[in-house]
Order: sequence, then structure tokens, then C-alpha cells
Amino acid sequence: MSGLLASPRNIWLTGATSGIGEALCQKLLQQNHRLIVTGRRKEHLEVLAGQHPEKVHPAPADTTSTEQLAGIRSDLGHFGGLDMVILNAGICEYLEVREYDSRVIERNLNTNLLGAARCLDIALPALRATRAAGKPATLVIVSSSAWWFPFGRAEGYGASKAALSYFAHALRADLAAEGIQVVVVSPGFVKTPLTARNDFPMPFMVSAEDAADRIVTGLDRGRNEIAFPRRFTWTLKLLSALPQPLIDRMAAAMARKS
Ligand SMILES: NC(=O)c1ccc[n+]([C@@H]2O[C@H](COP(=O)([O-])OP(=O)(O)OC[C@H]3O[C@@H](n4cnc5c(N)ncnc54)[C@H](OP(=O)(O)O)[C@@H]3O)[C@@H](O)[C@H]2O)c1
Repeated sequence: MSGLLASPRNIWLTGATSGIGEALCQKLLQQNHRLIVTGRRKEHLEVLAGQHPEKVHPAPADTTSTEQLAGIRSDLGHFGGLDMVILNAGICEYLEVREYDSRVIERNLNTNLLGAARCLDIALPALRATRAAGKPATLVIVSSSAWWFPFGRAEGYGASKAALSYFAHALRADLAAEGIQVVVVSPGFVKTPLTARNDFPMPFMVSAEDAADRIVTGLDRGRNEIAFPRRFTWTLKLLSALPQPLIDRMAAAMARKS
């Protein structure tokens, strides 16, 4: 165990109002961590803060807005130095290729990739200050394993998560010299409002609580890569190692079915 979460930490979590983020809140609160929570639905954040006034500080913001994020900059220091940032806010919008509209791609990228990039405008200085005080500082980016295979209709979502993972891995290289750890989380299907809209089979789906457990366990073990469930992520890894023409045929057959 690296003990990253062995004692109470100050953590900024985005996408805290629903799904994986909401389950992560509950798990981290059980372990006595202090949370600064962000999402657009202010009332959800305030209910959570009302239930845990000592341990939860609401910092509502839309991560597609640089101005709103600048407005919560000082909230990140609410409990003192910031030990960990979990960038989890995300959307999944599918493309109907017969009615191709580039705005679908734009919206996925704006929240999933650029939203995370904007959050770092305010998070990186806080994490650097923690390192300067000689303490560990960790950046966790919730990406996805969806982009490991070319799923039909996921042009926007998959591209945003492929770009987000690249962004995170390049940041890991750059921030290594400063001792800021960058962790990439790549879930398979998780039962949340985001997947509730899906009308296709979702193999090996796990609950949001299970996902939160796996993320927290991975962080506590000092993992840089947290991918789950293994049966799903290994299947995708094996498929992605096939020759491209074979991948193309399988992907087209799956797209026709869905
Ligand atoms: N569920 C899955 O199968 C799955 C698989 C792989 C990866 N993921 C990733 O896991 C993360 C969480 O997904 P989820 O399944 O828990 O989805 P969810 O239940 O829909 O939750 C998404 C969260 O993101 C927040 N959010 C969305 N847009 C935002 C914005 N512009 N500004 C601030 N907050 C925003 C939402 O809060 P507000 O609505 O209050 O703003 C909500 O708290 C996402 O990054 C998703 O891509 C999910």
C-alpha cells in the first residue's frame, strides 16, 4: 500500500452529483476524507454539504466555463492544502451518423477533454503548493476504456476519452519531475445515469459503488493505472491487438447490429 488515502486527505472531486462521482463521495467520506465537490447542480452539492458540514464544501461550477472555474479557485483551499484532485465530470453523447453533426463531437470534447484541461488552471497551482510543502500530491483523471475499440456511434465520446488519456499520460511525463503523481482511471461499463440511456448490451457492467471501491483501492495501492472490470478491459486489450482489417470488420458488424 502506498497509503495515499491512509489518513484524512483534502480532495477536490468533479462530477460529484451523480453516478461514479456520487459513489466516490460516499466511499471517501466513510474514510474521513474532506471533499470539495463540484458539478453544475448546486442543490445536490448543498444537500451533501448539509449532511456532512465538517467534511464537504460545495464548489458548484460548469467545467465548460473558464470563468466559473476561476470563481471557485479559492474554494480549493477551504480545508487547507489540497492533496488530491479527481477530475471525473463527463458526458457521453452519441453520434447518429446519418444525421452527422459536428457539434456532437464538439460537446463531448468540450466537457471531457477541455473541461479537465480547464480544471487544471486552478488545480495545478494548488497541487504544486502541496508539493512545495513536502507532501504528496495526486491528480486522478477519470477517462474510459471505451476508446480501446472503435465502437459505432461513439466517435465523439471515444475521441474525447482517447485524447483525455493521452493528455493525462503526457502530463504524467511532465509532472514526474515535480513529484506530482498522475493516475488514469479507465472503467468499463458502470451502472449510472450516463449508461441508463444506452440501448445496447453492456457486458460485465458493475455498480457505481463497485466502481468507487475499485478506484479507492487502486489509489490506496499507489496504482498509476486503474482499469476495471478486468474481464472487460482485457477483452478490449486483446481485440485491439488484432490486425486492423479484422478490427474494422468486427466493428462494422457490431455497428450494424446496434
Ligand atoms: N458509466 C460508465 O459506464 C462509465 C464508463 C467509463 C468512464 N466513465 C466516466 O466516468 C465519469 C462519470 O460518469 P458517470 O457514469 O458517473 O456519469 P453521470 O452519472 O452522468 O455523472 C456525470 C457527472 O459529471 C458532471 N458533469 C457533467 N458535465 C459537467 C459540466 N459541464 N460541469 C461540471 N460537471 C459536469 C455531472 O454533474 P452535473 O450534471 O451536476 O453538472 C455528474 O456529476 C465520466 O467522465 C464518464 O465518462 C463512465
